[in-house]
Amino acid sequence: MHPLLDLLLVLATLLYSYLEALAKLFVPARRKPVNGELVLITGAAHGVGRATALEFARRRSRLVLWDINQHGIEDTASECKRLGATVHTFVVDCSKREEIYSTADKVKKDVGDVSILVNNAGVITAADLLSTQDHQIEKMFEVNILAHMWTTRAFLPTMMNNNHGHIVTVASAAGHFVTSFMVAYCSSKFAAVGFHKALTEELSTLGMDGIKTTCVCPVFINTGFVKNPSTRLGRILEVEEVAEALMEGILTNRKMVFVPPHLSIALLSEMLFPERALTVLKKLTNAKFDAVVGQRSTQ
Ligand SMILES: NC(=O)c1ccc[n+]([C@@H]2O[C@H](COP(=O)([O-])OP(=O)(O)OC[C@H]3O[C@@H](n4cnc5c(N)ncnc54)[C@H](O)[C@@H]3O)[C@@H](O)[C@H]2O)c1
Repeated sequence: MHPLLDLLLVLATLLYSYLEALAKLFVPARRKPVNGELVLITGAAHGVGRATALEFARRRSRLVLWDINQHGIEDTASECKRLGATVHTFVVDCSKREEIYSTADKVKKDVGDVSILVNNAGVITAADLLSTQDHQIEKMFEVNILAHMWTTRAFLPTMMNNNHGHIVTVASAAGHFVTSFMVAYCSSKFAAVGFHKALTEELSTLGMDGIKTTCVCPVFINTGFVKNPSTRLGRILEVEEVAEALMEGILTNRKMVFVPPHLSIALLSEMLFPERALTVLKKLTNAKFDAVVGQRSTQ
């Protein structure tokens, strides 16, 4: 095509997209049903995973709950059953590839085809890089990103055969913005955001328009995951509002969900503001949490 025609096509698409976004402000987005879908949630024993399981249970989805904490998933499962859901629990260490693959085989054989996969399990060690031990760095990468690869590789083939499914990546604001004393954690969450974006692109290239993806990026949540978080601008999130935003993202097929939503504007400021202004903004935000600093680890 002539370059001028290419440019016109891009401009027309841009205009159409803006008009569509404007119209969506007034017309409520259509929500897809999730009743009857088989939903697998990792890290379902506590926090966001548990609250998400309850959200799906209320919508009559069938649940497969994974966690390393047996007592915790049994507890979540009882609560989901009380809400009327059918639930299957599996004790899985998501830092172990072989355990993920063998449990995925069991799920396929004994329960059925997972159509919604929520990769939520996560771990953190809040410390400066030299105080973080090697095995802690490895664990953050194993659970926060590698596990997403293994679970997706296990359940995507059936989703592709049916051209139907949804893959959810629970990343973090730390997958877009950096914070001191979370070098390995931020790196693993940037990887999770990259995983989501690249997977989304690949599914589109392969014509898999029935498989949707959602990436959820919250700021601090009150789950105890990060110890004593505080910030001068904004507030600490309640776990229920994160699960609600996650569910809304799935029901409306949103690709990127920031919690709170205005975080997307902060992302824009990262690109537009000069470095000095960003430093001042960061000081004003004054995000704090308990972290180990200055205890150099030799391994
Ligand atoms: N809490 C926050 O401030 C915050 C902010 C942004 C993003 N996130 C992300 O949200 C997700 C959920 O965090 P949360 O706050 O609910 O944490 P949480 O600690 O309350 O829950 C995490 C769950 O994952 C499970 N888990 C940990 N390691 C596992 C493993 N190896 N195998 C299987 N399960 C394992 C835990 O047992 C727990 O049930 C994580 O991916 C986290 O990175 C949390």
